[in-house]
Amino acid sequence: MQEEILSIKNQALAQIMSAKDATELEQIRIDYFGRSGKLTNLIKKIKDAPAEERKGIGQTINEVKKTIEELIASQKNNLKESVREWFDPTIPGIKPKVGHLHLLTNTIEEISQIFGRIGFERARYPEVEWDWFAFEALNFPENHPARDDWETFFVDTAPSQKYGPMILTPHTSSGQVREMLRVKTPPVRMINIAKCYRRQSDVSHVQMFHQFEGLVIDQDVSIVNLKGTLDYFAKSFFGPDRKTRLRPYHFQFTEPSFEIDISCGVCNGRGCKLCKAGWLELGGAGMVHPNVLNAGKIDSKKYSGFAFGWGVERVLMMKDGINIPDIRMIYNTDLRYLNQF
Ligand code: FA5
Repeated sequence: MQEEILSIKNQALAQIMSAKDATELEQIRIDYFGRSGKLTNLIKKIKDAPAEERKGIGQTINEVKKTIEELIASQKNNLKESVREWFDPTIPGIKPKVGHLHLLTNTIEEISQIFGRIGFERARYPEVEWDWFAFEALNFPENHPARDDWETFFVDTAPSQKYGPMILTPHTSSGQVREMLRVKTPPVRMINIAKCYRRQSDVSHVQMFHQFEGLVIDQDVSIVNLKGTLDYFAKSFFGPDRKTRLRPYHFQFTEPSFEIDISCGVCNGRGCKLCKAGWLELGGAGMVHPNVLNAGKIDSKKYSGFAFGWGVERVLMMKDGINIPDIRMIYNTDLRYLNQF
């Protein structure tokens, strides 16, 4: 029986050494140690051997069993190693999906660059703001409807003795006086792009939106400078054929004040279904009110300035080739929609 055991051992070792993978090794293990495996059958036969040989046979079988098991285990490891050695680094990998910036982020970047080219400095002032910077310093009377919580979000905290209630800023104009106080002595050339908040929601209004606010203060600044700046922006952002026009309007913090229109890109100013007689509304602008310069501690007799404030989403929606029928779609997180831009 000892000879039989040794022959089974040699057979097993040869099979293990030529096994190609873990599945084959597992099959060998079953062939030898399974219910009717070759070694299992030998163990069953021990009882038929002469009594004085049984102990020795048992010991030999145990040793063989241990040797086979150890060899199977080490071969499994060797095969794993060799699989690693077969790794081919030249096979093309799986490309990760490449994302891109949101269209609004790109628009903000484009606007910053356009104004950066003519010397405007990018600024960003608090979204959580005091009433004083958003209204009082901008010449708003105490009972102005914008100061009511019907339009503005109020932060539920004690008002400041100096600056009044805390609010979510409804426009980037709140950065005007902050910039004047920071710069102290003109020239001021600010482009403030930030989030604004109002209690509004429809196809052209959202509760959180972005505005970009231009502010220029220096000696002898006139409406001509404002018009030149607006035309430069219109041509750079919308295309070389676009023009702007100023329409008299009213803002508390500019005098005179204007609504700015841009010539319609569809009909080239001739008049069509999309525009009002060839013009589309862009946003507000005007010459900085002397009271606002005074609030910013700037001598209103020596210096003058202009300001404008428009919606980032609005100018984006007005761009040629961009079809966004509802402003709320810009804030949609559906990648199937966003990926087209
Ligand atoms: C203002 O906010 C003035 N601060 C603009 C200004 C600045 C005038 C400097 C003079 C000098 P108005 O409320 O019209 O003005 O808003 C300006 C632009 O912000 C609008 O034309 C529109 O494009 C955008 N806007 C206003 N409310 C919303 C809203 N709820 N959702 C999206 N865009 C909005």
